[in-house]
Amino acid sequence: MSFLKRIPAAAAILAAAFCVAAPAAAQTEVKLAYALATNSHYGAGAAAWAETAEKLSNGKLKFKQFPSSALGGERETVESVQLGTLEAVIVSSGTLSNFVPEVGVTDIPFLFRDLKHARSVLDGPVGQDLLAKFRSRNLVALAWGEQGFRHLTNSRHPVSKPDDMKGLKIRTMENPVHITAFKTLGAAPTPMAWPEVIGALQQGTIDGQENPMSVIVSAKLAQVQKYLTLTGHVYSPAALIVSTKLWNSLDDAGKKALAEGARAGAQAMRAYVDEVERKGLADVKAAGMQVVELDDRSKASFQQALGPAYKQYESRYGRALIDSIANAK
Ligand code: PAF
Repeated sequence: MSFLKRIPAAAAILAAAFCVAAPAAAQTEVKLAYALATNSHYGAGAAAWAETAEKLSNGKLKFKQFPSSALGGERETVESVQLGTLEAVIVSSGTLSNFVPEVGVTDIPFLFRDLKHARSVLDGPVGQDLLAKFRSRNLVALAWGEQGFRHLTNSRHPVSKPDDMKGLKIRTMENPVHITAFKTLGAAPTPMAWPEVIGALQQGTIDGQENPMSVIVSAKLAQVQKYLTLTGHVYSPAALIVSTKLWNSLDDAGKKALAEGARAGAQAMRAYVDEVERKGLADVKAAGMQVVELDDRSKASFQQALGPAYKQYESRYGRALIDSIANAK
């Protein structure tokens, strides 16, 4: 081939390389990990976050989702976000108090009256102050989504009063507030990362676990647990978090798109929870679960049995903060 013939060929190769490289350089990939399947409240939050942020950034942000603990347990994924090797997570407050201990106040049993109360506290000064605390731990928390109120499931017997908890081996999150509560109720709390839980329930190495309806339904816990007690013992917020590395790499418009996307994700999670609270009970009953619904008196008996635990919570988080949350309208 003559020299003159080779010039256009080389130019074409260069032009092609430029065309392929240009859009990739303009786009920022956001790898987003979460513990549950795409058909869960986490999946709903992730889809809305991705869709809104991609649209508002005119495609400059491109999400890639890793559902179902594909990148490890919640603690590991938050650590990856801290290191900047993962851009984003949706994760339960139960895990987050290992990173921002102050978040543990939201895990105190029977602190929130209902979803409305919990949402207004998290959207108000207390919740927003908690989000701000993540910055000093090398994390940027953008919004509070949620899981709903946690309930107890087990494979041994119906639980309708605190005494029924005695000796039950209950998987808890790796969370000191939850562990204290289950110990105080006389159960044997077994902290365990979520990816191991279904196997442990199947093998019978634990008797039960506790999670909201959103998880009980989406993770199909009726296949491995016979009894459900609607304890509603702990409200479970979940945060939408990105790495400081990603955040600092974005211009103002990119940050705005990411933050607005996170707020849309949080709303989608709440909408999912509203829906599963309405319909989930019928689904799990149809799947064979025996359900114990607690009246106000029975709930109060659990609260009473937790007396010594409340003393510990008070000394850890302060009476003033706990009261300001409990008394919020
Ligand atoms: O129980 C847990 O570990 C959490 O609630 C879960 C299911 C991983 C969702 O954050």
